[in-house]
Amino acid sequence: MLRLLHDLEIRGTATMAKEPKAHEGRIDQFFSGPGARADLWRDLQDAAQAWVAGKDNRAKFETLLAELAATEDYHAYPGPHLLEAMRDRAAADDARSTHELVRRISTALLTRSFRRHAGDWEVNDEGDGAMPDILPPTLGRGELHRPYFETLIVTGMPAERWPGFCVEWRRLRRPLDQFVYEPVIVGSVEDAFCATMLNPDIAAVVINEGFVFRSRHDAPVLRTLSASMEQQHNTEMSALQLAQLLKKVRPELDLYIVSNRRVEELAGDPKAGVARRIFYSVEELLELHLAILEGVQDRYDTPFFDNLKKYAQRPIGTFHALPIARGKSVFRSDWIRDMGEFYGPTLFLAESSATTGGLDSLLEPTGNIKVAQEKAARAFGADHVFFVTNGTSTSNKMAVQALLGPGDIAIVDRNCHKSHHYGMVLAGAQPLYVEAFPMTEYSMYGAVPLRTIKEALLNLKAENRLNRVKMLDLTNCTFDGHIYNTRRVMEECLAIKPDLIFLWDEAWFGFARFSPFLRPRTAMGAANDIEAWLNDPASLAAYDKQQVELGKTPSNEKLLNTRLIPDPRQVRLRVYQTHSTHKSMSALRQGSMLLVKDIDFHTVEAQFHEAVFTHASTSPNQQLIASLDVARRQMELEGYGLVGNAIEVAFAIRQAVASHPLISKYFRILGADGMVPPQYRQSGFTDFLAPGMNWAVALKSMQEDEFCLDPTRMTLVCGTAGFDGTQFKGLLASRYNIQLNKTSRNSVLLQSNINNTRSDVAHLIRVLVEISQNVDQRLTQGGPNVRKAFEERVKSLMTDVPDLPNFSHFHASFRKDAGKRTNEGDIRSGFYSAYNAAGCEYIRLADPEIDRRMKSGPELVSANFVIPYPPGFPIMVPGQVITKETIDFMRKLDVKEIHGYDATEGLKLVRAEALAKHAGPPQKRAAE
Ligand SMILES: Cc1ncc(COP(=O)(O)O)c(C=O)c1O
Repeated sequence: MLRLLHDLEIRGTATMAKEPKAHEGRIDQFFSGPGARADLWRDLQDAAQAWVAGKDNRAKFETLLAELAATEDYHAYPGPHLLEAMRDRAAADDARSTHELVRRISTALLTRSFRRHAGDWEVNDEGDGAMPDILPPTLGRGELHRPYFETLIVTGMPAERWPGFCVEWRRLRRPLDQFVYEPVIVGSVEDAFCATMLNPDIAAVVINEGFVFRSRHDAPVLRTLSASMEQQHNTEMSALQLAQLLKKVRPELDLYIVSNRRVEELAGDPKAGVARRIFYSVEELLELHLAILEGVQDRYDTPFFDNLKKYAQRPIGTFHALPIARGKSVFRSDWIRDMGEFYGPTLFLAESSATTGGLDSLLEPTGNIKVAQEKAARAFGADHVFFVTNGTSTSNKMAVQALLGPGDIAIVDRNCHKSHHYGMVLAGAQPLYVEAFPMTEYSMYGAVPLRTIKEALLNLKAENRLNRVKMLDLTNCTFDGHIYNTRRVMEECLAIKPDLIFLWDEAWFGFARFSPFLRPRTAMGAANDIEAWLNDPASLAAYDKQQVELGKTPSNEKLLNTRLIPDPRQVRLRVYQTHSTHKSMSALRQGSMLLVKDIDFHTVEAQFHEAVFTHASTSPNQQLIASLDVARRQMELEGYGLVGNAIEVAFAIRQAVASHPLISKYFRILGADGMVPPQYRQSGFTDFLAPGMNWAVALKSMQEDEFCLDPTRMTLVCGTAGFDGTQFKGLLASRYNIQLNKTSRNSVLLQSNINNTRSDVAHLIRVLVEISQNVDQRLTQGGPNVRKAFEERVKSLMTDVPDLPNFSHFHASFRKDAGKRTNEGDIRSGFYSAYNAAGCEYIRLADPEIDRRMKSGPELVSANFVIPYPPGFPIMVPGQVITKETIDFMRKLDVKEIHGYDATEGLKLVRAEALAKHAGPPQKRAAE
């Protein structure tokens, strides 16, 4: 799909850096959605102003207007009527009034006032020339604000009749309507596709039969946009096919098909499920209008939040254990009233411990929480969703506990969040750690290569132990932005073990569902694609063909080198995803979701309820649950535009840092080439901003590469400016009020999200300029010693970096029935060995005893998790044998925060005598 955006001729949003040349077709330009549109309008305004001042001529203005008009057809405002007026004024050579109109429209677009003010739709602001039938009548002055959206109408009607058709639509509006919408009319597949991509305000699409394939415009921008439509050679497309295409781009949209014939047949087609409703002929206009409103209402409804609001209005007396509810103890107090004033009374009115009276129980939802969860499942492409109010730390533990039992093996990224490791301890499962590729120079890890995962599975298979493996547990995207090829990973693993369960920790990646580029690489995006593939008869043929090619007993090497196809008849598709809604959407801190798409969910459902009972508080926070409900509403109604904006902001930052002469002297943001080794970028993709890069390559990369980079996660290298990550993070926070995400030895992680604006970008860039200037000044004015000290500091940060230690192995006492070729172990026994104080000892890191023990034994075995932050992954897990690499890394580590390590006491180790006790078979220990 990305290919269609190749060479898009919309201007980028670079702020104060080198301006890109118009028509350059840079790769980031596609993502420059709303920002780029605003830029085009600003340019048009500048051109009009220059024309008024006599600095430029009318022709320049008209060229820009023609360029802009090609995509303006996809938006309701300013609409053909105002654009025509602008053309007329220009043709009449009236620079001043043309400029005035451009200025008014630009302002209305920028402030979004056209959604409320009818005057913005008028040609003259005094109201003369107003055409009541063209003005949207219910966008009235002084009216209550109603949410606004746009409805795309695809029709075969001749374009001359469109204005009249719009008038008819607007006549359907009633004061009772909850929302107000404007129609956007197009007549072709190409235009429908482009409008869906470019207009984030579109919330519903009506597809009438009779449209054509090609756009009535011949603007190159459209051709490039639509060039890669899957059906690009099929210039005959049915309404249903178009609906399927649009649903792929934006699954949240309500689609309506209007047909004049065979509606019964159409409605009976299983593929017609993509349409919310099918109508017979346009006679049903009012019904259609009501259906559109109802569809949006369905997304707008937030059952839990709505009930909580009602609950807060009721005069309720509480004789319950929540004195803060209703806020009386707060507002009557001399001492804590400021808290009440700070948060406002509503918070206290909405505090409740009730699970009745319009509220519901998170532990056993039967009412509005249940419905809210069902809506979230729809929004995120899952079958079921659990709301979780203690972060993804808890969602992960719940999933691990529910899906794994004692002795089950789970293949786990060793670098994953600690909640997975602790989950394994709780479940008694045996983690088989697999390693991500190291990025030693930045003291961070990438993601786990598929080959490593396949090798682990094939080794287990060779030892006849595949039946013990239940789960593959990975982080997507990683903290630093590495995105897996989720579909490929699952397909190839299912080819080896058809009932493997996948747990994808998408703590950072929940928003990705709402980007057509990122969605296929999410757990649920891929699961839905795999499900469609499983139902396609061609899939079995592809499997059979590969089996013949592989032969009866293919070698492991052959299996490792082949892109394996699973047997559609055998596959049990079991996919779980957790995400921190609070990390990328509008949920309050700790709001998280656990998503389920598991064909065998009925077999584990009871275990999930147990997991909820184990982990969920019996006093969950109502505001948190409400915020999960509201975050879902927002993403279903405006997530597409918001995510587009987050990506746009990221590109603006990347572009500005790369092209600013002073910033780029000391800082850089790593592109895909800096973050993903070339063997995992099979497409040859280097970076979004690389010269000559185009969308064809970017699309190939997204579809095929083993790992891609989430553009919104930006690793800014600061070691080259002489700062370590922690120091730089501190500087930005204390001096410039900029908060950022994680740090590494020589970098910090910047993250753009749905909340960022271009002003944020401008602030960040200004700050980077100032810091770069300071460094530069210090170096130019400081003399040779200062320069030498700087170079040494940079060298120490950038080159004298410690090697990242791999997971070694569990001590033999914790391996028991483990296989010979794989490294799984009984982490739970390792963990509890630390509870036996007499069985543990401490040795300080600097003590030569450590070196002696490593040389001549007994082996050093960690009694607990040791997690230095940064980088934040466990370099020791309970029961793990400590190797020289780990000790070297610990000794070189210069971070202050090391969870699980007490510098005064030293490393906590399991004594050799205690290890001997663990050495017996599991049954014997159980009897002890
Ligand atoms: C990959 C990953 N998973 C899970 C979590 C925990 O999420 P939460 O903070 O919502 O508990 C984090 C937190 O940083 C994380 O990075």
